[in-house]
Amino acid sequence: MKKYYVMTLFPDMVLNNVRTSITGRAIADGKISVDAVNIREYTEDKRHGRVDDYPYGGGAGMLMQAQPIYDCYQAISGALGHNPRVLYMSPQGRTFDQRMAEELAGEEELVFLCGHYEGVDERALELIHAENVSIGDYVLTGGELASCVMIDAISRLVPGVLNKDASYEIESFSDGLLEYPQYTRPEEYMGLKVPEILLSGDHKKVEEWRHSMSLERTRSVRPELYALYQQEHPEEFMEKPKRRRRKSHTDS
Ligand code: ADE
Repeated sequence: MKKYYVMTLFPDMVLNNVRTSITGRAIADGKISVDAVNIREYTEDKRHGRVDDYPYGGGAGMLMQAQPIYDCYQAISGALGHNPRVLYMSPQGRTFDQRMAEELAGEEELVFLCGHYEGVDERALELIHAENVSIGDYVLTGGELASCVMIDAISRLVPGVLNKDASYEIESFSDGLLEYPQYTRPEEYMGLKVPEILLSGDHKKVEEWRHSMSLERTRSVRPELYALYQQEHPEEFMEKPKRRRRKSHTDS
């Protein structure tokens, strides 16, 4: 079973999310577990339950203090008997992508640290050896949604979480291309017809059509992914040699 620990000030925000749909079923089936650990429970300021303070040097907003975060991580490490890998959700981090999801799917346990307010005291990150990870170039109000995004993307790669092991093989990004368009019944809806080739029963032709649609979509929407794909599959883009006409007896 893959174990996630989410250090947060808003455990419900995480649990309400991961307990729904496919990750919820994976939890019920014992394929993954998600423990949302409330950082506030680890503050030494028990009277006020304080976890944040003003930044040294001035500036807007409050920062999460190092002590509750450090102690929260120590409690998780102590229970496991070792120091698990910890990811700090932050727009300052390395950008999360499918390759990283595949790499993280191999970890037994993962800890996510969710910041709030204007961020966290840098010493907390240093002491627990946190890796900064961003889910994209925009700023969220906190790291909780980012951790849920990552848990979702990683968990679907854990064997047994998706119904068919094959279903994540032919899809966007697994081969570096965006997915081709798909259709289900009826054959015609509001005057729009399913492409003829998909009804032909010719599997080879269908595969070729799907691949060409993937290429075209990727080229128009994600040119940088397309360029990478071209680099990695040069043989697909080589001009086919023109068939030479055989010299016939009548040629002079
Ligand atoms: N926290 C705030 N914004 C974030 C982002 N883009 N990615 C990860 N964590 C965040």
